[in-house]
Amino acid sequence: MKVNKERLKELAKQCMGFEPFPYQLDFISDCFEHKYILACWSRQIGKSTCTALFACLAAVLNPDITIIIISKSERQSKEIYIKVLDFLHRVPEFRKGLKQESMEQTILANRSRILNLPCSFEGQSLRGYAAEICIIDEAQFIPDQVVDEVISPFVATKKDFKFIKLSTPQGKQGHFYRSFLDKDYHVHNYSYVEGVRNGLITREFIDKKRMEMDSLSFAQEYEALFIEEASSYFGSELINNNVQDYPLLSEVSNVESGTFYAGYDVGRFGMDKSVLIVVQRKKEENRIVFIGSIDKASLDTQLDYIKRMDKLFHFKKIVLDESAVGGGLTDFLIKEFNTSLIKKVEGLTFTNKSKKDIYSNLRTLLENRQLILPRHPELISQLKDLQYEYSDSGNLKIFHPPNKHDDYPDALALAVKYVKDKESAWFFVNNDRLDESYGNVDYTSW
Ligand SMILES: Nc1ncnc2c1ncn2[C@@H]1O[C@H](COP(=O)(O)OP(=O)(O)OP(=O)(O)O)[C@@H](O)[C@H]1O
Ligand SMILES: [Mg+2]
Repeated sequence: MKVNKERLKELAKQCMGFEPFPYQLDFISDCFEHKYILACWSRQIGKSTCTALFACLAAVLNPDITIIIISKSERQSKEIYIKVLDFLHRVPEFRKGLKQESMEQTILANRSRILNLPCSFEGQSLRGYAAEICIIDEAQFIPDQVVDEVISPFVATKKDFKFIKLSTPQGKQGHFYRSFLDKDYHVHNYSYVEGVRNGLITREFIDKKRMEMDSLSFAQEYEALFIEEASSYFGSELINNNVQDYPLLSEVSNVESGTFYAGYDVGRFGMDKSVLIVVQRKKEENRIVFIGSIDKASLDTQLDYIKRMDKLFHFKKIVLDESAVGGGLTDFLIKEFNTSLIKKVEGLTFTNKSKKDIYSNLRTLLENRQLILPRHPELISQLKDLQYEYSDSGNLKIFHPPNKHDDYPDALALAVKYVKDKESAWFFVNNDRLDESYGNVDYTSW
């Protein structure tokens, strides 16, 4: 179905209260015209809003169709669905046509329906549906197998159907990247520049994000670029840029007062060593001031060691890996140091996600030259050895090559967890331009 862009603009204004920007109009218009559409856009420049508008108009204009909105989590799939409901309510003619409405599905008088389906781990929640229009939000995070085996068959029996994928990129892998390269797909690839150009987000907001995020995350989330995978996570140059020659403190040093953060990577008891890294935070710079390790130590020995080091540094925060054997040690330390008001000790369970978060923070500090590293051979070589790749479900995984270790980088990433924690403030302009006056729409005249 082809649409007149002027008519589309008018309808958009009625539904949303504001007009789509030119790149958004192109996308919505392509959704009407083509079978396979892919939006690989920066964060926050209107993917969900435009798709919701398309879903709303497609349901109103086409009788007897089913539109399914799928997303990785309930919260995300609700995001588009709630917008669709909102748009349907804003236009009196559309509102009159609402026959049934819940958080799972909406049915219109023309017998078209819109379903809101979060995707469970293996897509069990999605099995058995059929639809004319299938919208996959945050598509990069829906596993390939679910798309191929569960979602693709939705349209198998339909002559006329649409498949719409939306996402920010996550590495050159997976169905989203393959569709991006597929000639059948009409690809719309927009970076933050479109958002800034049209006054949706500010240049200051982008500059702030660039400072806060590591460059890999920024390239994907705001520049909408597919980055290479399976390579060194930090790279030699980034590490070398931050290395300086200076002496580290020892266990018998006189430590002047300051703000010290500790990261502790717990070795497997009786098997290998545990590593403690201390970072001093100052206004102008942060630097590693102490690197210690204890070999094959019992729980009591490790507890005594951390207590001894705390007497020396009076840590502001001690963060340790509480996965597996670290759990017992964390419990003892929490009993020893934490009060109802002061949470000095924090245990972090290592998962791909939690590791990615603390490493992304470490990378940001290094990229911004906000962390000075000593020329410590084991730390430097282990940092340079770290690799990353994307899993099938689009998540970043950071790992060390076989026969190498990551206990020093882990301790460092834990130590700096609170040296700089990302802020999540959003600065939008023109974000709320909803106009309360709705005109009459003649949607039969397209
Ligand atoms: N043309 C427009 N005019 C004014 N505001 C707009 C326009 N398009 C989108 N917005 C607003 O911009 C904000 C972000 O839009 P939306 O949530 O659709 O972006 P997104 O790309 O899906 O973001 P995310 O990547 O975080 O999921 C919303 O508040 C939306 O109302
Ligand atoms: Mg969105």
